[in-house]
Amino acid sequence: MSTSPAAAGEPFAIAEQAAEALVTRLGARPEVALVLGSGWRPAADALGEADAECPVAELPGFVAPTVPGHQGAVRSVRVDGRQVLVLLGRSHFYESRSPAQVVHAVRTAVIAGAGVVVLTNAAGAVNPVLRPGEVVLVRDHLNLTGASPLSGGEPPPPYRSPFVDLTDLYASALRRTARTVDPSLAEGVYAALPGPHYETPAEIAMLRAAGADLVGMSTALEAIAARHLGALVLGLSLVTNLAAGVSPGPLDHAEVLAAGAAAVPRLGRLLAALLPLLSPG
Ligand code: HPA
Repeated sequence: MSTSPAAAGEPFAIAEQAAEALVTRLGARPEVALVLGSGWRPAADALGEADAECPVAELPGFVAPTVPGHQGAVRSVRVDGRQVLVLLGRSHFYESRSPAQVVHAVRTAVIAGAGVVVLTNAAGAVNPVLRPGEVVLVRDHLNLTGASPLSGGEPPPPYRSPFVDLTDLYASALRRTARTVDPSLAEGVYAALPGPHYETPAEIAMLRAAGADLVGMSTALEAIAARHLGALVLGLSLVTNLAAGVSPGPLDHAEVLAAGAAAVPRLGRLLAALLPLLSPG
């Protein structure tokens, strides 16, 4: 997918084709889209049996994820009367994907009908009061990827101007709904870095001073793209580790994955209770 001005509409056109293929393949139009990031994927099974599932390779513009634990498939599940599109895995900036490719799944889901997008991720705790295993509601983000899914010129009609307002990007109404399910959920600011390396202790100290509570390598670009298309966004971070310098020892990707695995039953219960309550307005 090119992002040259002449091709500004190309990512939207491909997402439209993918949305049509998705609705045909799954036989349902999504109301809510759920992106399952690192650690969250096995929680998909707690949502109930899939009505239909499709490998992303069969949908226009999708590229299968390369990261272990990220499966390239989409699934349609009815959760307590709400039609949920579950995206099992995501594409990351650090897989040499363009911003347009990173947000393609979310764009496809919103164009297909999803008015709410739930973005889950694994994150390091920059704020030392947060604990591994804890789920935190994303209140806002610092996009430090240096990229935007909306660069490249005006999107074609009917899409809005790329100068989209992000004041309530992670919708306060959805965060309130989430706290009715679990009042103990903390809120935090998520700093999105390009990765794939973890941060230095000096970078984490800088992020803390800048107001970050969490650090990770995803979510921000997808949130911007979803909001641009008018969807409401909920961000859920699973704290898998204390960030560099906050942690007494070095960071280990296997430990990050293990912390995710330990939290799975709780993540599944949270999502199953929450998804039916999320509504676009
Ligand atoms: N840093 C960046 N990304 C992460 C981390 C971290 O400490 N933990 C999980 N994803």
